[in-house]
Amino acid sequence: MRKNYLLTPGPTPLPPSVCEAMARPIIHHRTPQFQAILKEATEGLKYVFQTTNDVFILCSSGTGAMEAAVTNLLSPGDTVIIVESGKFGERWTEICKAAGIICDVLSVEWGKSVNPADIAAKLKAHGDSVKAVFTTLCETSTGVSHDMEAIGAVVKNSSAVLVVDAISGLGAIPLKTDAWHCDVVVSGSQKGLMLPPGLGFISISSKAWKCVESSKSPRYYFDLRKAKKAIEKTDTPFTPAITLVIALNEALRMMKEDTLEKVFARHKKMAEAVRAAMKALGLKLFAPDAGSDVVTAVCVPQGIDGEKLVKIMRDTYGVTIAGGQDAIKGKLVRIAHMGFIEEFDIITGISCLEKVLSQLGYAFPLGSGVKAAEEVFMK
Ligand SMILES: Cc1ncc(COP(=O)(O)O)c(C=O)c1O
Repeated sequence: MRKNYLLTPGPTPLPPSVCEAMARPIIHHRTPQFQAILKEATEGLKYVFQTTNDVFILCSSGTGAMEAAVTNLLSPGDTVIIVESGKFGERWTEICKAAGIICDVLSVEWGKSVNPADIAAKLKAHGDSVKAVFTTLCETSTGVSHDMEAIGAVVKNSSAVLVVDAISGLGAIPLKTDAWHCDVVVSGSQKGLMLPPGLGFISISSKAWKCVESSKSPRYYFDLRKAKKAIEKTDTPFTPAITLVIALNEALRMMKEDTLEKVFARHKKMAEAVRAAMKALGLKLFAPDAGSDVVTAVCVPQGIDGEKLVKIMRDTYGVTIAGGQDAIKGKLVRIAHMGFIEEFDIITGISCLEKVLSQLGYAFPLGSGVKAAEEVFMK
């Protein structure tokens, strides 16, 4: 018998009311009962996306919504700018290349956020030939968040549409889709929205709809023209993930009741507590200047095997955090503070990290991380 704690950047823990919603008997989707749920969920998504644009619910993980963005907005041979500052920026490039898009990659050192002036310079160099700028709200692989407001202010003056991967970040940190001129925002269910994986979301501005209408890329299942036609009749083009949509509605109700302001404030506080704890433990943050309030990436001290640390925490004590990927594999750990995570989940996570670090031979005053986190929570 062991209790498990999930502190990973997706999936995130599920609230009991969301689990309960998924345990209800299935209903048919072409019914007034499901239509009422779909309508409420779509409205709830608009609240979380902070938009009046159309928001579509797709049956896929977040990557499906990313691919839908590419194939609906662009035609083979189009040129785009892609901000790459980690694994998920690279995913935009991989999807675009698969769709025959010409990618001008703006590489940003891992752990740093992009300078919006560099995007402006690239846009200027291309003139009007760039169709889209692809970005990431929170680069989950490094724990960095990018300044979407500043990026939006740059891209809105060009003919390009701004596409934001907000798969991790939406519902955790501010993203004002309309006010910040984010033409297309994609997200997924298993992070800030406190659901299991399986749903993708995509919002489309009127500027972006023009691209959708003129795109020559082949598409069928993820054809947003079909989705738009259907949602106008409060319907979906294909069988939706009914159970997940019911759960989504429940999660969105919780968020609305809580208010976005409070949700963001809670995430900020948890991130502050984790950062304070890491400092107290003498651990370096991977992104000290650009760290997000979604997930904190922490450098593993010299001589400690990061993969072993994650494994012992998970397999011996039931506390799951994430490791590093690619070049930073084994060198960092990532502690998520996103979704249905609260003060005492964080305290437990830090306490477990201390215990295993200590077992692996790292010297520090035991309890110093927990104390620093508690001091933040007591403020
Ligand atoms: C920023 C970001 N983009 C894209 C993805 C991929 O999403 P999915 O695994 O839901 O397809 C993730 C998942 O971790 C992510 O964090």
